[in-house]
Amino acid sequence: MRVLLIGSGGREHALAAALIEDPQLEALHVAPGNPGIAQIAICHQIDTYNNDAVVTLAAQLDIDLVVIGPEKPLVNGLADALAKAKIACFGPSQAAAQLEGSKDFAKQVMRDAGVPTAKSFTCINQAEIESALDAFTRDGIPYVVKHDGLAAGKGVVVTTDRAEALAHALLSPRVVIEEYLDGPEVSLFGISDGKNIVAMQPAQDFKRAYDGDLGLNTGGMGAYSPLPWAPVDIVEQTLRTVLQPTIAEMNARNTPFVGLLYAGLALTSQGIRVIEFNARFGDPETEVLLPRLKTPLAQLLYRAATHGLEGTTLEWSEDAAVTVVLASEGYPESPQLGEPITGVDRSHIIEDTYIFHAGTTMRDGILHSSGGRVLTVTGMGKDLAAARSKAYEVISGITLRGSHYRKDIALTASQSASQSGEK
Ligand code: AMP
Ligand code: GLY
Repeated sequence: MRVLLIGSGGREHALAAALIEDPQLEALHVAPGNPGIAQIAICHQIDTYNNDAVVTLAAQLDIDLVVIGPEKPLVNGLADALAKAKIACFGPSQAAAQLEGSKDFAKQVMRDAGVPTAKSFTCINQAEIESALDAFTRDGIPYVVKHDGLAAGKGVVVTTDRAEALAHALLSPRVVIEEYLDGPEVSLFGISDGKNIVAMQPAQDFKRAYDGDLGLNTGGMGAYSPLPWAPVDIVEQTLRTVLQPTIAEMNARNTPFVGLLYAGLALTSQGIRVIEFNARFGDPETEVLLPRLKTPLAQLLYRAATHGLEGTTLEWSEDAAVTVVLASEGYPESPQLGEPITGVDRSHIIEDTYIFHAGTTMRDGILHSSGGRVLTVTGMGKDLAAARSKAYEVISGITLRGSHYRKDIALTASQSASQSGEK
């Protein structure tokens, strides 16, 4: 099988690393890729927001399957352009990607599908915003204000400060204001062929910049899987109450969802609630899930892209995985880019670790930082404690001036797991 992967981040590096392990893979091409991906695949510097350019490249390379990593090309209709050219694609159509592209649309789908989520109002003017904020005013409970469209992680404000909530709401022509959900967050991904959906294992992502969940929201500073503390039936429950009804509803609307349905969940005292949907693999959860997945990935995604998932089950490694993100100085407020990076080749001498490139570039043969999140280091081990120590051993050997990473990824989970004697 000949695969073209679209994207350039840590998620795409993890996808590429898993795809090349599939014995049926004949060639892996990536557009645009990054210096880490370039070590394992052939990269093509094209504009991935130009759908015609991607279709032309896929045709030239005689591609059997296109895998779309990031949300922007999805919302830009790349899957539709590939469908027209009769090229199999893992990634939803523009219409189905609205599950991520519009918070209001996602709420409507959940309402019609009976999927449990926070109560919400969609508001288009100040009077509506004020009355929605009034409806959710309770002592000490934060307001949750979300811009309707894609906002690269910057569209959501959770605050007890009403003035801040109002100011954030007024920045966007359409906002969703919703009930605050209390409880731990879990990311659970389903792979769908439009009709059937197969759930992956749960992961947890750390969104705040600094240890102890302090600092601003980021694109994600680390992740781990499995979750020893999660209810044993979380996958089965999420499939039944969230993933399957959503896929059925999208089908009923004649906009079947083919690709990865990412459910961001809150495990509240009242049960599972959906915080958000994304229409693609999550980052950095992918960097822990794919190293644990034993099922050959190219074949799996091809079956999803060609309506062939029925009866598929996934096979997982018993090992735990922990990933830690190395971020540039000043990330997320004002990342300092263009600094040299050393120590990355050490990965080759430590077993069961991976270094995924996220924001790097090669300049004069030397690796430099080029994004806020620079590298993602994954460690695997028999339990979370072992996986953590691998990841931290590798990341502590990497030098990038002014960079920072969280020291507490999977820390609490690994401690409680070792106390209860479980993984
Ligand atoms: P989203 O982009 O919708 O995932 O929101 C970003 C982050 O804001 C989530 O990961 C949560 O930590 C937080 N958040 C979003 N919605 C809620 C909610 N209804 N209650 C509590 N926290 C939320
Ligand atoms: N891990 C958060 C995201 O991918 O949106």
